[in-house]
Amino acid sequence: MTTSYKRNKIALIGAGMIGGTMALLAAQKELGDIVLLDIPLAEGTAKGKALDIQESRAIDGYDAEIIGTSDYADVTGADVVIVTAGVPRKPGMSRDDLVGINLKIIKDVASKLKEVCPKAFVIVITNPLDAMVYTMQKVTGFPTHMVCGMAGVLDSARLRYFLADGIGIAAQNVQAMVLGGHGDSMVPLLSSANAGGVPVTTLLDPETLAAIVARTRAAGGEIVGLLGNGSAFYSPAAAAIQMAEAYLNDKKAVLPAAAYLNGEYGYDGFYFGVPTIIGAGGIEKIIETPLSDDETKALAASAGEVKSLVAGLGL
Ligand code: APR
Repeated sequence: MTTSYKRNKIALIGAGMIGGTMALLAAQKELGDIVLLDIPLAEGTAKGKALDIQESRAIDGYDAEIIGTSDYADVTGADVVIVTAGVPRKPGMSRDDLVGINLKIIKDVASKLKEVCPKAFVIVITNPLDAMVYTMQKVTGFPTHMVCGMAGVLDSARLRYFLADGIGIAAQNVQAMVLGGHGDSMVPLLSSANAGGVPVTTLLDPETLAAIVARTRAAGGEIVGLLGNGSAFYSPAAAAIQMAEAYLNDKKAVLPAAAYLNGEYGYDGFYFGVPTIIGAGGIEKIIETPLSDDETKALAASAGEVKSLVAGLGL
């Protein structure tokens, strides 16, 4: 970067499939200048992807500087940091199977971020998500409202797409949320799901709805199985960029995210998927939405799983 701009700075830690896709999306949306960071061994990947996107600027007409690096000095003063550093699942693995390897990586990344960008809004994507975002906050010591995890926007987008496809309408017309941990126990909420205000429970039969709930819970694994090598990246990238945009543009957007609970929904002291308001203050508020009895029970089961994973982190 040869010129100094007064623009937002977005640091993407991990220049893999999600990192590279986010760089392209952030550039196309002109969210700010972009730093794509990876380990020294993969610095060429970071630099190559950055240059490749720079070379599309004249075609797409956006104005953003994108650099690839392995040097955390380049992340200094970042406004938003999105972390995908880690390894993705292989077919047959659960997200929780990644905890051993990714815990070490997130601790390393967090210790570096702590030094170079203490004011950043940090969005973690690395799995197992709820445990990794917890680790990020503990190691950085950043305020809990400035550290969150991306899972709910993605899981909800999957649910919204499956519902819309079943009804035969546009996905953007379906409002629906998935709460809880980003694992097989996640809780798709049907009680409040609607299509243009019409409850989905009046538009689809119970068997179809049950199949959609099951497919949503297993949607990440479905993609892992199809790809055979790696996990989903287009939709996770789009989801995290929506969260970054909500922060940078102070949108006060209602988005489900892994947020630190202080008694909301009856839970305390860990990160969990809940509806939030994201604006310039980071996670500005957690919204408590009414749940059916079944949803309350399912959320409790999911909380139990997340809590036991977090308890095993040794933090
Ligand atoms: N610091 C920075 N980058 C790292 C580090 C580290 N300590 N360790 C690994 N990386 C990089 C890898 O070199 C790789 O380029 O993280 C990148 C991860 O990219 P991919 O393997 O392509 O994985 P991706 O599909 O982007 O998913 C990343 O997000 O959805 C989750 O489960 C998924 O945990 C995984 C993460």
